[in-house]
Amino acid sequence: MTHPALGVRALDLAAPATFVENDVHEFWRAVRADSPVFWHEPMGRNPGFWVVSRHQDIQSLLHHEALSSARGNVLDVVLRGDDSAGGSMVAVTDPPRHRPLRNLIWSAFTPRVLGSVVEKVRERTGALITKVVELDTFDFATEVAEQVPMTTICDLLSIPAADRADLLRWNKMALSSDHADSDEFEALGARNEIVLYFMELAALRRASPGDDVISTLAAARVEGELLTEAELAVNCYSLILGGDETSRVSAISAVLALMENPDQWDALRDGTVSFESAVEEVLRWSSPAMHLARTAKADFTIDGHEVREGDIVTLWTISGNNDEAVFDEPRRFTLSRSPNKHLSFGHGPHFCLGAYLGRAELSALLRALVAKVGRMEPRGAPRPIYSNFLNGYKSLPVRFQGR
Ligand code: HEM
Repeated sequence: MTHPALGVRALDLAAPATFVENDVHEFWRAVRADSPVFWHEPMGRNPGFWVVSRHQDIQSLLHHEALSSARGNVLDVVLRGDDSAGGSMVAVTDPPRHRPLRNLIWSAFTPRVLGSVVEKVRERTGALITKVVELDTFDFATEVAEQVPMTTICDLLSIPAADRADLLRWNKMALSSDHADSDEFEALGARNEIVLYFMELAALRRASPGDDVISTLAAARVEGELLTEAELAVNCYSLILGGDETSRVSAISAVLALMENPDQWDALRDGTVSFESAVEEVLRWSSPAMHLARTAKADFTIDGHEVREGDIVTLWTISGNNDEAVFDEPRRFTLSRSPNKHLSFGHGPHFCLGAYLGRAELSALLRALVAKVGRMEPRGAPRPIYSNFLNGYKSLPVRFQGR
C-alpha cells in the first residue's frame, strides 16, 4: 500500500521485521523529502503516533518542554501504555526531578572511576582481538562485541566478581533483541532478578559504603531525600539498559562497515584519519538506537502539524543521522567526516550519560584492530536483529588475519 502523503510504500514502523525486510534508508530519504513529519496510522492493535524525520526537528523537539519521557522513551513501551520505572529511572524521568537525579549519577562517574574503567576496557579489548586473530572463522558478535559492554558496566558499578556470572546470565535472558527466540516470561523473570539483585547490593553498600558508584548514589540526596533501594536499583539497571546492547551493536557495525569499505580501513591503518573522528562516523553510520519516543504533555505545533496532549511522538535519529541537509553524501561511510553532529547519543537534557564510555569502547576496538589485524574477511551472512529500536546485527562471521 502506498502512503498517500509519502509517495512510498507505507511501512509499519512498530513492526520489527520492517527494518530487516525493507531498504529503510530509501524510505527515510523519501519521508524527509516529502513528508518530514507525519502521522503513522494505527496498525493492528497499536495506536497511531507522530513520526519526525529531519535532523533539525529532532534536535529542537528533544528540548521541547511539551514532550515527556515519563511514559517511556522507546516506542514499544509507550505503545503498551506506560513505563513502570517512569519518575524513578533517569532516562524516563521528567523535570524538575530529572536534572538533580542525572547530576547525581554523573557526579558518581568521577574521573578516577572512569579512568580505571577505560584502562580495563583497553586491556580487555586488546586481549579479545589477540585471541581471535588467525582463528579460521569466528563470530565477531559473540566472541568479541558481546564480551565488552557488560563487563565495563560491572566494573563501573564495582560488581563483585562472584556475582558477575549470574548478572550476565540474567541479562542475556532479559535482552529485548533476543525476544524472537526467548520466552517472554523468562525475560520478565530475569529483569526482576536484576532489579532484586541491585536492591540487595544497594542495601549492602548503604550499610557499609565504599568509594564506588553505587555507594555514592546510595549516600546522596535528590531534592533533599535519599533514593529508595528500588530507585537505586532501577538506576543501576538503567546503565545496563543504556549501555549494553547499544555498545555491542555499534562494535559489530564498525567491523562490518570497515570490511565493506576497504579504503576507510586503509585510511584508519595508515593514520590518515584520527580514531576520534572514526568513532564519531561509526556512531553516525551505525545509529544503534533508531528512534527516541516521547509523549506530548500539552498541545503544540511542529512543521504545521498539530500535536495533541497525550499523542505519542517518535523521533527517528537514524533518519536525522542521514539527513542530507546536515551530512554530505550521508550514505557514504567517511571516517574523516567533519563536522559530524550525529544524534546517536540523543540530544538535550537526556543526552547519553554513558557517551564517554561508549566512545571509549569503540576507540579501544578500532585501536586494537589497527594494532593487531591486517585483513578482515566476511565468512558468511551477518544475521540482523529484529527490532524497531535496535539497529544492527546479532551475528557476524569473520576471519581476521594478523598484521
Ligand atoms: C541515554 C545511546 C552507551 C547510559 C541515551 C540516549 C541515547 C543513548 C540515544 C538518549 C535517550 C533519550 O533521550 O531518551 C547510547 C549509545 C551508546 C550508549 C548509542 C553506545 C554506543 C551508554 C553507556 C551507558 C549509557 C555505556 C552506561 C554506562 C545511558 C543513560 C542514559 C542514556 C543512563 C539516560 C540519560 C538521561 O536520561 O539523562 N543513550 N548510549 N549509555 N544512556 Fe546511553
